[in-house]
Order: sequence, then C-alpha cells, then structure tokens
Amino acid sequence: MSSKDLMEALHFACTLSFWRMTFLWTYSLIISYIQLLTRSMTQKSTYNHCAVSPLPPITSSASGRRLPICIITGVSTSLAHHCWSALALSREGFCVVLAGRSSHKLSKVMSNIRSQSEEVQLKAFQVDLSSLSSIMRFKESLDQWLLDSDMHPSIQLLINNAGILATTSRLTTEGHDQMMGTNYIGAFSLTEVLLPLLKNSPVPSRIINLTSFTHRNVSGFRAEKETVSGKRFSKLKHYPCAEIYELSKLCMLLFSYELHQQLHLAEGSQSISVIAVDPGAVKTDIMREVPWCISQVALLVLGVLGLLQSPEAGVSSILDAALAPPETSGLYFFGGNGRTVDSSALSYDLKLSRELWATSCHIFQDSLSAQPA
Ligand SMILES: NC(=O)c1ccc[n+]([C@@H]2O[C@H](COP(=O)([O-])OP(=O)(O)OC[C@H]3O[C@@H](n4cnc5c(N)ncnc54)[C@H](OP(=O)(O)O)[C@@H]3O)[C@@H](O)[C@H]2O)c1
Repeated sequence: MSSKDLMEALHFACTLSFWRMTFLWTYSLIISYIQLLTRSMTQKSTYNHCAVSPLPPITSSASGRRLPICIITGVSTSLAHHCWSALALSREGFCVVLAGRSSHKLSKVMSNIRSQSEEVQLKAFQVDLSSLSSIMRFKESLDQWLLDSDMHPSIQLLINNAGILATTSRLTTEGHDQMMGTNYIGAFSLTEVLLPLLKNSPVPSRIINLTSFTHRNVSGFRAEKETVSGKRFSKLKHYPCAEIYELSKLCMLLFSYELHQQLHLAEGSQSISVIAVDPGAVKTDIMREVPWCISQVALLVLGVLGLLQSPEAGVSSILDAALAPPETSGLYFFGGNGRTVDSSALSYDLKLSRELWATSCHIFQDSLSAQPA
C-alpha cells in the first residue's frame, strides 16, 4: 500500500460517512437479519419460484420469437456475478437484454457469457442511467431491435440493478447529483420510459428495484426537488456519501410501493408487479470508490460476523424476487430464499411516497423538455 493510499484511507476514516457506514450500516443489517429470524419463527414467509410464462402465439407476427424479455441494468462489468445473473435468467427462459454504460465492457461481458453457454439469447445496449438523453436513445434502439427481430413489442421483466456508492460530489449532464441520478432518478426515468412496453405484455410482467438495508438509517426527509435531484448536497462542504446512498435506496422503496399502489388501482394494469429486493451485504465492486484498505477491512469484518453474502447468493436473491408469485407485488425481499421483511416505517409513509412521485415526475419532465428536439 502506497503512502498516498494510506493518506486517502486516513482522510476517509475522518469523515462522518465512514462512521455512519461502520456503525449504522452494520446496525441496520443486523436489524434486518433479526427481523428475518423472528419472522421465520412466527410465520411461513418464503415465496417459491414460479415458472416464467412463455409468450402466447402472436397473431400479428407468426414468425416472431416468443421468449419473454428481461432487461437488466448495470451488468456491464465482466465480474463473475454479472455473467452469472445473465446466465441464470437465460436458464429461466428469458431473452436477456443487458443495459450497461460502457460498450467496451458490454462486449467483454457478452463474450464471457457466450463462452459459457452458446444457447443464451442475449442482446446488449449501451445506456448511461444518469442521463435522460441516453435512456431515451436506449428506448429508441430497443424499439427498433424488437421491430427488426420480429419480436412482440413488449418486455416482461425490468431489473433496475445499476447503482453506485460515490464518495465525491459529481453532477450529471442534467445537473443532478451523480449518485441520486444513477441510483434513483435513472431507475425512475427508465421505468417511466419502459412502462408502455411492460403494460403491453400479453403475460404478467414485473419490475424489480434494487434497494438496500441502509435505507433504515434515513430518519426523515422532504421530497423536494433540491433533495431528490441531490443538488442540495453539491453545495455542502463535505459530501455526505453514506447519507445520499441511504436516501437513494429509501427512494427506491418509496417508488416501488407507490408504483405498486398505482398499478394495482388502475384498471388493466394489475398484471404488472413491482418488487423491491435487497440482497444484503454482498462482496461486489460497489465499494470501488472507498479507499481499498477500508473496503477490505469492511468485507473482512462482515465476513467474520457472518453477514457477508457471496456474489452468487446476491444474484439468487434477485432471481427469487424476479420469479416469485404475483401476489408478492409491493413486498420487500431481503436475505434470499424468497424471504420478505418489513422495510423502515418511513418507507411506508403514503404521503411521502406520493410527494416523491410528484417531485420525480417534475424532474423527469424538466429533463425531458430540456432535451434537444
Ligand atoms: N453489494 C452490496 O452489498 C449491495 C447491497 C444492497 C444493495 N446493493 C445494490 O445492488 C445493485 C448492484 O450493485 P453491485 O453490488 O453489483 O455493485 P457493482 O458490482 O459496482 O455493480 C454496479 C453496476 O452498476 C453499473 N452502473 C453504475 N453507474 C451506472 C450508470 N450511470 N449507468 C449504467 N450503469 C451504471 C456499473 O457499471 P460500470 O461497471 O460501468 O461502472 C456496474 O455494472 C446496486 O443498486 C446496489 O446499490 C448492493
């Protein structure tokens, strides 16, 4: 370890975010596991996999392929767990669409997956979720691909997986905080843009939103534009990275519950389910911006405490949610094996979720109207 690395680690260890991550994140993880334990003693709360429905014959396009389509974001690194999730989804009968921000990384992950299975139905698109113009370009390319490949103009599964833990303040091209922009606004905007394709599915479709136990540490927040877009944080002297990550993950829960409510109240939309999933603490690349030695110590301690999931277990918990029966819509999956727990009391605040929805729609519309014609 160089002296520069050591200085960086020392500097990070002096921040509030470091202490928040060390104590509050571990505490909220333990709370989630305690809840899981007490729940498993008192009630049967696991949901088994359902078979994926193949698409029924499509009259307008007899030659069209009939595999259900799954779009998964943030699978652009050639890390084993990313390849594994695509392979696992393919084995479940999906045509898998990978949406990642780097075309170079996407082609590497595609060839890695293909080297493990030639049968996998795979397509990759470049999309930067922190940019609405990139999301709109992705939607155009997706529509064109569905048309060119004679496929049904619908999707069956959207997994909003992409996320970052940024340790420095950066703004997106639309002026949002990079972490809020990627983790929440990007997922919200992509869902909004893809909703017509999910609604158009002739079989039940599903949205999976990745969240985190760290959301439990948000004690209160007002869904104002400055906060949801994260602009407020860029004005602060010290970037509160842990707090922003927690907030982005709370927003994912509020968004999931609100969308579930809206779809289940709206006539004809009940066949879209919305599930929030939290894989627990998983050994991935998420801490890449945290000084290396601090992230290694964190992984070691979590491992010793028995709180660290393998990347494969992390992927399995996402799959459990993706394949759970339809009545699980609106639930919070945690800990894998189809288990659910309650999220924080704040995440069930209906008034807050409606306010967040309204603010997110404003942010989306503002970004949309700022797009060149
Ligand atoms: N690991 C955990 O302990 C844990 C716990 C709870 C929840 N989660 C959540 O699980 C999800 C997956 O994270 P992970 O642990 O697998 O981390 P990861 O290994 O760092 O993967 C994150 C992925 O998101 C992509 N991404 C980042 N910014 C993007 C952008 N603007 N547009 C498109 N893609 C972007 C990254 O692509 P690049 O390679 O191009 O950067 C990467 O492929 C995240 O939402 C995270 O918050 C993780």
